[in-house]
Amino acid sequence: MEEDGPAVVLLDQRRLPHEVVELRCGTAAEVADAIREMAIRGAPAIGIAAAYGMALASLRGDDLAEAERVLAASRPTAVNLPWALAEMRPHATVERARMLHEQEVERCRQMATHAAELFQPGTRALTHCNAGGLATGGYGSAVGALRAAWERGLLERVLVDETRPLLQGSRLTAWELEQAEIPHAVIADSAAGSLMARGEVDLVVTGADRIAANGDTANKIGTYSLAVLAAHHDIPFYVVAPTSTLDRATPDGSGIPIEERDPTELTDRFPARNPAFDVTPAALITAIVTERGVRRPPYAESLK
Ligand code: MRU
Repeated sequence: MEEDGPAVVLLDQRRLPHEVVELRCGTAAEVADAIREMAIRGAPAIGIAAAYGMALASLRGDDLAEAERVLAASRPTAVNLPWALAEMRPHATVERARMLHEQEVERCRQMATHAAELFQPGTRALTHCNAGGLATGGYGSAVGALRAAWERGLLERVLVDETRPLLQGSRLTAWELEQAEIPHAVIADSAAGSLMARGEVDLVVTGADRIAANGDTANKIGTYSLAVLAAHHDIPFYVVAPTSTLDRATPDGSGIPIEERDPTELTDRFPARNPAFDVTPAALITAIVTERGVRRPPYAESLK
């Protein structure tokens, strides 16, 4: 994502991997639309986009309280969005947005270094959704861990859940892994359990949208099922996320708002339910990796 004069210019992730197309947002409301419609998505990335949206509103002389309100309402689950808006409140400048962006990418690099410690030579990993550079403003959280493990010769290959209904895995993560030349294979979400049972998965690594004070973690719908499957097969389940994703004000996962998206993302023929996220209980998470290091249970203590 780039800030470009009187507009925020971002890569339109809806068009990937087939087309690499930029989207220009001329107002904070247009940035909010881009977040809501998922032209930009992924917890840290929407926080960064919102920060640039505030800088844009300030440059234009718009009502900053209104800009913040519209951006805050764009998506409910990732805490990075209200976190970034709070960071921008004292000075809604381009420099501050850029600093926040650079700091998030630096956090990803630090997390990746810590997370690489969790890999052994020949590790076969499985990931869900997209927690790559696209989702974080650069480098990636879970995908950053995979990159670091690959660079250290610790990763054999990655299974990529396609991640229905919007296919962030098969459209975005596979695209990023291809660019990084990391061996990978896309699988149907429902194939994960069977491949675990056949001994083809050594660890699961995902990002997060919001981590409650006790370690309960909201992430893309399907993450909870994966964590249950991993526990059943005695496979470690790791979450990699920056401290901007920690929500200390929410004691546990029951307080995390879960976005319900338009049912037509699933079917326009029948009634449908479309929760976009789920909550994985802390008890199913082997470790949470932030830029500060690898944290293990009990998370109420280790995440403090
Ligand atoms: O609906 P999305 O695509 O924004 O969901 C994204 C995820 O669930 C990611 O795993 C999460 O935001 C972490 S991104 C580093």
